[in-house]
Amino acid sequence: MKDRFHKVLYLILIAAAPASTAAVLLWLFSVDGTLGLFQWMGLYRILFYAVGGLGLVAPLLAFAGCRFAIFRRLSIVFAIVGIIIPLAIGGYFLRTSFIFAESTPPLLLMADGTGSSGVPNLALVFRTPHKSIRTLRYGIDSFDQVVTESGPTTNHVLPVTDLLPDSRYQWKLDDGEVCTFTTPPLTTDGNALYHFAVGSDPHFGAGLGDSASGDVAVTSKMLNYIAAPQNRFHAFFITGDLVNMGSSIGDWKAALNTFAPSTCAVPWRPLMGNHDAIINGSPQYVAYLYPNGMATQTGTSTYYRIDSGRVHFILLKMLWGVESFSPQQRQWFERQLQAIPVDDWTIVMLHSMVYASSSEFNGMAWYDPADMVSEVAPLLEQYKVDLVVSGHDHDLEFLQHNGVSYAVVGAMGGKLDPRASHLSPASIWYAPQQYGFLDVRVLPTTMELIFRDPDGQELRSFEIGQNRL
Ligand SMILES: [Fe+2]
Repeated sequence: MKDRFHKVLYLILIAAAPASTAAVLLWLFSVDGTLGLFQWMGLYRILFYAVGGLGLVAPLLAFAGCRFAIFRRLSIVFAIVGIIIPLAIGGYFLRTSFIFAESTPPLLLMADGTGSSGVPNLALVFRTPHKSIRTLRYGIDSFDQVVTESGPTTNHVLPVTDLLPDSRYQWKLDDGEVCTFTTPPLTTDGNALYHFAVGSDPHFGAGLGDSASGDVAVTSKMLNYIAAPQNRFHAFFITGDLVNMGSSIGDWKAALNTFAPSTCAVPWRPLMGNHDAIINGSPQYVAYLYPNGMATQTGTSTYYRIDSGRVHFILLKMLWGVESFSPQQRQWFERQLQAIPVDDWTIVMLHSMVYASSSEFNGMAWYDPADMVSEVAPLLEQYKVDLVVSGHDHDLEFLQHNGVSYAVVGAMGGKLDPRASHLSPASIWYAPQQYGFLDVRVLPTTMELIFRDPDGQELRSFEIGQNRL
């Protein structure tokens, strides 16, 4: 009887090693960005194989132990190791689903959809270590709009909705600093319909393997230019890789503290990049940049559409490439494209590039990525998207292909890429080893694109018409 009990216990122990390994690997591959990490990064691929292999050692030794007692004893040791190590790895990365920075600075963020007057809605978002009730006041030459939270919370989301066009708003949190921002006009008498800045890949935080941390001084220079009142931006966007490692709370705090002051004057909208998602970083991104309580009208907390009159922004969750372009996201994307009138402006932003000059990475073509070209470019062309902005490559580039214009702007502080070994046939202007960002003025029938260096000096400008090909 006792022997039988020991035998059952032994079999459970042996089976638990592959079971726990499989459970942890399945969970890791279900979170944003892990599949791409496995596909592109050889070191991580080896680690995943090693963890998977560890789970198989105990059953193999147990099989050999049918004839040799030493293998049976070893199988018990490897079963215990094969349970503990995967669970420890899983537990370490699971913590970023539940533990967040206790305190983050107030960020004025753009929300999905649009307000009742056709101007994008905003929200003031921040976290505090202790529960409190906060009040936001805003208005045109006044503070007549008052938003007070309904109860004490540590996760603050104060909506700024139904703004009027072409107006200068002032706002303040409780009795804090008075900030101002300007809303876009929905019709024009010579002014831009929308004036925005877009950069990417500042890579805040500690170095990670091949990816060095970003240069904060470079990022700060650009933020100073974007936030300066005389430059009159309506919004600024980051197309991903705000941080170097998304599971590092310290990286997020460093990034948010640096970006927050500029959102006093210009509303901000960052989307998720592959580094923001490493590993299980996605809950951190959502907690700080699209938290619970921030409304979504058309999309989700990780892909969304922002409308300002005739100017439409569609921001996608495309981390390493099409591996994160889920069927649901693709259907949602097509529905948005179908709904936008062809005479309006459609601007798509995503982290991974569709067309770009670059080099090989771990033996694979990083330039003009084949699956992006075959699966994403046809949609952009079919629905006559006017401009596509990406990061991922750490340089500046302007490209055109079949009527669609592409800008690569991953030069906002992350370590710059070496000169590309492969120039894309779609490339029109390529600036390797150059920090900078893109300044875009959307006019009624043309769009003016100015690539600027960190001081705001023009590097190169382009004028594009509406895509009617
Ligand atoms: Fe990057």
